[in-house]
Amino acid sequence: MKPRFIDPFTPNRPIDDPDRFFGRADPVNEMVDSLFQIKSGNPKHTIITGDRGVGKSSLLTQVHLTANGDNRLSDRLKIDRGVTKYNFLSIWHDVDATQSAYDLAMAILSKFESAFKKFVSSVNLEIDLAGFGKLGRDKNNPINMTQLIDEFVSRISKVDAEARKNKKDGVLIFIDELDRIRSDSMISSFFKLTSERLARENLKQIGFICAGITGAVQKLEEEHSSILRTFRDVPLPRFNKNEGQEILADGFAKANHTCNMQDLTNKSYDVTVGLPEPIHLLGSEMLSVDTDGILDSADFDNAIKKIVTDVRKNKLASLLKKAGGGKYQKIIEAVASYEKKIVPLDYIARSINQEQSQFSTNMATLLEREILFKPAIGHYAFTDPMLKEYVKANGVLALDD
Ligand SMILES: Nc1ncnc2c1ncn2[C@@H]1O[C@H](COP(=O)(O)OP(=O)(O)O)[C@@H](O)[C@H]1O
Ligand SMILES: [Mg+2]
Repeated sequence: MKPRFIDPFTPNRPIDDPDRFFGRADPVNEMVDSLFQIKSGNPKHTIITGDRGVGKSSLLTQVHLTANGDNRLSDRLKIDRGVTKYNFLSIWHDVDATQSAYDLAMAILSKFESAFKKFVSSVNLEIDLAGFGKLGRDKNNPINMTQLIDEFVSRISKVDAEARKNKKDGVLIFIDELDRIRSDSMISSFFKLTSERLARENLKQIGFICAGITGAVQKLEEEHSSILRTFRDVPLPRFNKNEGQEILADGFAKANHTCNMQDLTNKSYDVTVGLPEPIHLLGSEMLSVDTDGILDSADFDNAIKKIVTDVRKNKLASLLKKAGGGKYQKIIEAVASYEKKIVPLDYIARSINQEQSQFSTNMATLLEREILFKPAIGHYAFTDPMLKEYVKANGVLALDD
């Protein structure tokens, strides 16, 4: 048996260790600029956007660390912070699908209240949560947006005053999973109106720092007032081949394994398309199937096999089912059969033997169901790149329409 080691890969959680956070020098620099601008009274509300699994929560985590005085990442990337270190008052909130603008505002205020219990020794911050709670007591009575913003901003201004008293750089509200909000939640309007009101009341050291999946954020944009005009958008691209390779090589070295695959860079890119989540999954499973401390092509193939027949089997199977029956499965089969991950629409048309117009609504549905995404006009790819490997191994489902 080979010696036990700690798995250096973390497919299931964001990167919190700055030393294991790869690439991203430009986005990190932009985020640090947001911190600097907010500290300087020039608020830049910011939203990190990108595909599922591209690393949004990881970047948000790193910014949160930096905002609270951890300089490891900005030092390593040689980024000018503009200050020795940051000392913001901040809270973190993960949105969930059931939340309305009121729920979000309430959650933010409650978190500040408990944050104050931790940080502030002298005074007990009184932001009258109970009074705010009365706004939302009657669930059937939609709260007037103006009133909600009034009450929220007046309480946030108390948080701001306390932050100043405690010599903080300002107040940051971190919000992850913004794509989960429903378009009727009014959260989009809440952001726009709140940020305008904060500026008008000269509360300029308060910033929202958010993250959400690109398509979903743009959808909000269409349906509601312009989040992206109020917020600076920091888009996160997928990793390139070499960055993906670096993540794998670093993990293998940390686990004291060597890798003798000459073509790992290309082969791993083929199955992961540069998404760090599957890169971590692949690395983790290669280490787990290997028996001799030397990673080779057989370990690579076995890792893929294990992912599609075991580790990710249930997730991939339900994804395939969620795609729908009949023509949907034919389209999936066509996408999986193409030699590359990114598939031109005319290839799909030829494979299923239909005119593009005959299945364009099916394609739109597959995008909406998050089975496919559209990396370029007229091109499609699986949201979860392992779905391709799954279909290659298991075929598609015989479901009726
Ligand atoms: N900069 C990075 N360097 C290395 N691994 C990363 C990086 N960003 C994300 N990851 C990894 O990718 C996966 C997805 O990251 P996460 O931040 O949860 O993505 P998202 O929030 O966009 O869905 C996680 O396994 C995480 O460990
Ligand atoms: Mg996330």
